[in-house]
Amino acid sequence: MSKTVLITGASSGIGKATAIHFQQQGWNVIATMRSPEKDTELNKLENLQLEKLDVLDVSSIEQAILNGIAKFGKIDALVNNAGYGAYGPLESFPRENIIRQFNTNVIGLMDVTKTIIPHFRQNKDGVIVNISSIGGQMTFALGSLYHGTKFAVEGISESLHFEMKEIGVKVKIVEPGFIATDFGSRSFDFQAGNIEDYQPLIGALMKQWQNPNNIVSQPSLVAEVIFNAVTDGTNQLRYRAGEDADFLLDSRKKMTDTAFFEMMNKQLGN
Ligand SMILES: NC(=O)c1ccc[n+]([C@@H]2O[C@H](COP(=O)([O-])OP(=O)(O)OC[C@H]3O[C@@H](n4cnc5c(N)ncnc54)[C@H](OP(=O)(O)O)[C@@H]3O)[C@@H](O)[C@H]2O)c1
Repeated sequence: MSKTVLITGASSGIGKATAIHFQQQGWNVIATMRSPEKDTELNKLENLQLEKLDVLDVSSIEQAILNGIAKFGKIDALVNNAGYGAYGPLESFPRENIIRQFNTNVIGLMDVTKTIIPHFRQNKDGVIVNISSIGGQMTFALGSLYHGTKFAVEGISESLHFEMKEIGVKVKIVEPGFIATDFGSRSFDFQAGNIEDYQPLIGALMKQWQNPNNIVSQPSLVAEVIFNAVTDGTNQLRYRAGEDADFLLDSRKKMTDTAFFEMMNKQLGN
């Protein structure tokens, strides 16, 4: 019998590529998104069920999971992918944007996970993949919100893996580097604000991110890493995706805080 994966944020980018990859590997896919009526591509694929799921709406989470189990009988893996980036000086952020960032990337991820765990516990089986980021292990300037959420995802996942072991469930963390998706455009909440003191840093960060020498990977590469994390049968917790992820996270591990921050500041021209 084919296995089944439920993916959040499958409307674009990494989530969509992951839905396609699992489907191509013979899995049943519950591709969840806020607006399934806008999809024009995934609904053509066999053994793929579109479900409405907004991670900020607990009843939509419960319903999508129930519908998925009713359709395919069982869910074997969950990919918590839905999320977006909020960047800018902390001072520039309205409180609602701060709450929305943490509710989406952290509380939403916990709500989806908490809702599916009883099913996994009953089956004594399941894999939970949480999409973190290189930004869950290191930070770029002006990312106190985004990195706050991804550091939280790392801590939540790492601790959760101990209790999930008790019920036969694996937890995996995937840390992509820069990936060509809607992350930097439609999904980006950038609040530059109008405080003069921060504008040079904002300009320097934009220049650093737009450097044509940056390595940017395709979402299909992350999809392959996620598939491997779900199917490799090991207890490995962390997986990186992208050459830049390897370079940056190896550097972060090898260097002292001071040396690493000096390197990052140099890239910002400081
Ligand atoms: N791209 C990168 O460089 C990069 C690097 C590291 C980690 N990541 C992580 O990868 C994940 C996916 O991002 P992406 O790069 O693929 O960007 P993306 O193409 O913009 O996809 C983001 C997805 O999250 C969904 N989403 C946002 N808020 C949601 C909510 N409240 N409920 C349900 N879905 C919601 C979006 O749905 P709508 O279509 O409805 O907006 C969209 O499907 C995120 O967790 C991100 O932090 C990305």
